[in-house]
Amino acid sequence: MNWENATPYNQFSGTISNQAAKEELGRRIAARVEDGQVIGVGSGSTSYVTIQAIAERVHRHNLTIAVVCTSPEVTLACAAVNLPIGSLLQKRPDWCFDGADEVDPARNLIKGRGGAMFMEKVMIHAAPKSCILVDRSKLVPKLGTKFPIPVEVLPIALRVVEHELRDLGAIEAPMRMAVKKDGPVITENGNFILDVRFAEIHSSLERDIKAIPGVIESGLFWGRDVEIVVAEE
Ligand code: 5RP
Repeated sequence: MNWENATPYNQFSGTISNQAAKEELGRRIAARVEDGQVIGVGSGSTSYVTIQAIAERVHRHNLTIAVVCTSPEVTLACAAVNLPIGSLLQKRPDWCFDGADEVDPARNLIKGRGGAMFMEKVMIHAAPKSCILVDRSKLVPKLGTKFPIPVEVLPIALRVVEHELRDLGAIEAPMRMAVKKDGPVITENGNFILDVRFAEIHSSLERDIKAIPGVIESGLFWGRDVEIVVAEE
């Protein structure tokens, strides 16, 4: 079988909530794509829908671009629509896009429902400009309103990290469990995820969490210079 004829892995793994709003965002972001750009691609359903819109524009206008991906699922999606895939080791993105689970009025974010917050944070630091695409359901008066903060933890350090998180004010920190596999979710980096609820989320919490030995990364993005692009629908 030729690879050209192989089945493309092009579907989002879950249900896409607010799909029409995400498609509208995807079209707006695709319109920003210019010939020769390297674009950083976040994870989640908004990113997935945006990939489809970007591919449509790239192929229709015969643009040459490269993408740099933050997770296996968006790598598969970009491959399926024939977008050339590069590595952060070789290419610095001109800009990147991603979704979010919560955005507060000061543009602080909670991300990581999809478990890809480690690479998503690396990407936001790599790209000189980041666009966070959200439908209105993601706008909250205060972080933590709907979502916990996901914390990626080295398995051997689990108990240490749990203990330290409680010292930082964590109220609960359940381990994220897998669906269609027994046991916990294992991240791309081989780690566990704790979904942590805090009584209060403040400006130094991201740094405090990251300072715990055994924490790989958290889904709290505080004080980043990102553009929030809100769906019109
Ligand atoms: C994945 C993420 C996603 O960007 C976030 O969960 C938003 O997802 P969606 O676009 O499906 O609503 O952080 O780790």
